[in-house]
Amino acid sequence: MLQYTTIQGLREAMRSARKAGKSLGLVPTMGYLHAGHIAICETARRECDLVVVSIFVNPLQFAPSEDLESYPRDLDRDLGILSQTGVDAVFTPSVEEMYPETMETWVSVPSLSQTLEGKSRPTHFQGVATVVLKLFSIVQPDIAYFGQKDGQQVAVVRRMVRDLQLPLEVHVVPTVRETDGLAMSSRNVYLDPPARASALALSRALFAGRALLEAGERRGAAVQQAMEAVLTGDSAVRMDYAAVVQADSLVPQDRVQGRTMLAVAAYVGRARLLDNLMLDVGPSGVRDLLTPS
Ligand code: PAF
Repeated sequence: MLQYTTIQGLREAMRSARKAGKSLGLVPTMGYLHAGHIAICETARRECDLVVVSIFVNPLQFAPSEDLESYPRDLDRDLGILSQTGVDAVFTPSVEEMYPETMETWVSVPSLSQTLEGKSRPTHFQGVATVVLKLFSIVQPDIAYFGQKDGQQVAVVRRMVRDLQLPLEVHVVPTVRETDGLAMSSRNVYLDPPARASALALSRALFAGRALLEAGERRGAAVQQAMEAVLTGDSAVRMDYAAVVQADSLVPQDRVQGRTMLAVAAYVGRARLLDNLMLDVGPSGVRDLLTPS
């Protein structure tokens, strides 16, 4: 596995690979890798000739009050995991390499960025979209891979790709869960044992919402209330939101039908956690849109 720390070095390597006719897959990450990232890399490995993983804790997507400084990092461990996963190249730029000057240019997708996460993190998605576009321009991948756990991020990136007609595909890989249902996240490291137990409220809330839909409920408000009841049922969980939205536009659904995202966010101990389910809700049934392979 080759490691690149400069944009120029990576660009040159990607140019040669493209010339040699190789298809390129990009997996953008902020490191501190877990089984969810490994599943994404394995999908990329199956679908592309050459897989590049970027590891960059992007300051642009953290508000001053957020956990940029304390965000978990362990590059040596990450490099070990990636070399065992069969990744070809890893890009580990410094902040100075990615942002040599104060940024004056930003990418924003306002309608998808202001809802859900955007209400408590108003500048987050312009930071995400800007760094993702920058990574796309450096690597010029055929396929870029994202995890479904960050469902709103997926909607923002897909829309950016569509609006800017970028010549790549976005592939989304299902969330990997611990056996008890907790979605894998780098921020789970913040959870002490009691908080770890309380964090299960997020997946339980989603499963309660899905069970209600499976039982035939189609009122969005009723499904939302069922999810809220689970989240507020544990005093160690501070709910941010529980929402039932159309999966691509993120517009709340009064009557639930078609591509639907059930989404929750909550503070548990020191961690702010997210989770979601992507469902196809039909007149006679409910189907998971993404199922683990
Ligand atoms: O999902 C993440 O880890 C980050 O938001 C991303 C896509 C790597 C951009 O910094």
